[in-house]
Amino acid sequence: MLILGIESSCDETAAALVEIKNEKIKIISNVVSSQIKIHQQYGGVVPEIAARCHIEKILPVIIEALGGNEKKKIDCIAVTIGPGLITSLLVGIETARTLAYLWNKPIIGVNHLEGHIVSVLLNQNKGISNFKSQISKQTQNVKLKIQKNIFPAMALLVSGGHTELILIKDILKYKKIGQTRDDAAGEAFDKVAKLLNLDYPGGPIIAANAAIKIKNQKSKIKNDYFLNNKIKFPRPMINSNDFDFSFSGLKTAVFYQLKKDVDWNKKIPEYCYEFQQAVVDVLTHKTFKAIEKYKVKTFFLSGGVAANQELRKQFELKSKKCKIKFFVPPKNFCTDNAAMIAVAGYFNALAKKYTPWQKLKPDSNLELGV
Ligand code: KG4
Ligand code: ZN
Repeated sequence: MLILGIESSCDETAAALVEIKNEKIKIISNVVSSQIKIHQQYGGVVPEIAARCHIEKILPVIIEALGGNEKKKIDCIAVTIGPGLITSLLVGIETARTLAYLWNKPIIGVNHLEGHIVSVLLNQNKGISNFKSQISKQTQNVKLKIQKNIFPAMALLVSGGHTELILIKDILKYKKIGQTRDDAAGEAFDKVAKLLNLDYPGGPIIAANAAIKIKNQKSKIKNDYFLNNKIKFPRPMINSNDFDFSFSGLKTAVFYQLKKDVDWNKKIPEYCYEFQQAVVDVLTHKTFKAIEKYKVKTFFLSGGVAANQELRKQFELKSKKCKIKFFVPPKNFCTDNAAMIAVAGYFNALAKKYTPWQKLKPDSNLELGV
């Protein structure tokens, strides 16, 4: 099955051509046009600007993803219908509807969260291309890891908009068992970065600063502030009797600590390290509590925050210790892309979950497994 994936839920305009045959995923192209540079000057995504950028980029991105490939051979178009920014979603959806009508192809409306979950099946770094760079001629050839013995599985989805624990009983069978009550983990990274006068998106910059601290710690640098004056942040809801999360209080704790620390800008790696570790502690503790309770066989880590090296490392160590299979996508498939939307489209196409183009609509608050 040859699928054209389209993604425009937030600030990445993306298209991918994915072929799935004999249980093998072949990523023919995966094009992402990021708006990060544009939103950076505002310290976050401006929805109106995001939608205008999607309109500008969507056709060039799709044309680049199609390359010289015959559109006649495409079996279906998979497009993100939510959750996300309504005006951004509309650009991808209207484009998909138009192409479906023109080319007479079926459409699958994909839940963005399901896209992140199946991104764990994309396990190689090849075949990715940024918009306007040459499409890599190398393609991915990945054996689909869908084997019967991986379910039930637990997924932790950590992105800029979501922090959710989802129990996957079988393919396409989801049950949400926990979520954030306020800020998402990625949102907290972005907001704390703003407090520290760092750029948007905050996740990768906080991670890079925390890594300086970790390196210093390993080489036992004597004048390290953190070794002498420990900055300590709370681990919100770590012992609560449910699987929910809360990160807005952690952000407030950083705010008040900065307010009383006149030298804070000399200790950015220490602040980043302690904040990151607080998030990692809460996420790992609660996820493994859920893994134990639901007796799952596999753990999926996905979403933009799953690109965080420390989070990946600590989940990998814990999974090994608990003898549980651990699936995580390569870093470039953690953040928004259309290959994951095409793969989610594939599973929905197998279940014949098509939507006539006339009925395809965005749903900015679309949920998974409720
Ligand atoms: O999945 P994604 O691309 O978009 C949403 O669906 O929200 O996730 C974007 C989020 C941002 O909040 C960004 O700061 C965070 O993922 N992120 C990271 C890292 N890379 C991206 N957070 C922590 N560490 C990272 N290395
Ligand atoms: Zn996302």
